[in-house]
Amino acid sequence: MDTDRKRIRIAIDGPSGAGKSTIAKAVAEKLAIDYIDTGAMYRAIGYKMLTEGIDVSEEKKIKEMLTRTTIDFSGGNIILDGTVINDRIRTPEVSKMASSSSALPEVRSKLVALQRKIASGKSVIMDGRDIGTNVITDAECKFFMTASKEERAERRYKELAEKGVQTSYAQVLEDIKKRDENDSTRRLNPLAMADDAVLLDTTGMKVDDVVNAILEEVRRKWPY
Ligand code: DC
Repeated sequence: MDTDRKRIRIAIDGPSGAGKSTIAKAVAEKLAIDYIDTGAMYRAIGYKMLTEGIDVSEEKKIKEMLTRTTIDFSGGNIILDGTVINDRIRTPEVSKMASSSSALPEVRSKLVALQRKIASGKSVIMDGRDIGTNVITDAECKFFMTASKEERAERRYKELAEKGVQTSYAQVLEDIKKRDENDSTRRLNPLAMADDAVLLDTTGMKVDDVVNAILEEVRRKWPY
């Protein structure tokens, strides 16, 4: 069997709150392939820095911390150093720390290497900021998913409220604007659309319609 031809790697990049993880999860299920949430990996590092009281300016401590850090995905869970941390990494504090620490070269090189290893030799759908431009530059299918800032803030606000996180829509919108700025202006692998990515503006679109648009494109490029 020609396994390489049958392998598909789908990259989905875009700003926070664009709906990448909801859509990627649904597409992964339809195609029966693995879903890797790379944002969760940066969040895991941000979470560990917060719990250990490490500041983004403390390069030496960060390097040392990374040498004793393992991140795994299993059964839809994200596991940091052997502990499931799913909900703990979804707070506004962790979002901020993940965004600032993701600009550090030592953090990026560790996580990008891990992401490439996970994506090697199997079919995956991976979402993040630099998947199509850096992590899997030869992915069979690339998408850049976005939506208006207001709609993204609305979605994030609802998600946080459902989880019982106390915040306001105005605060969430403010945080989204700051993270967009951070993520797209950092020097290393900033949020950007790959030249060969398909642009998907999901403002006003239903989840099913976005999933179908992706599946249609995937079938066109990968008819197996
Ligand atoms: O997708 P998310 O909101 O869970 O991501 C959290 C942070 O991680 C985001 O602010 C930027 C960073 N990130 C990154 O730099 N590169 C990726 N591939 C994914 C996320």
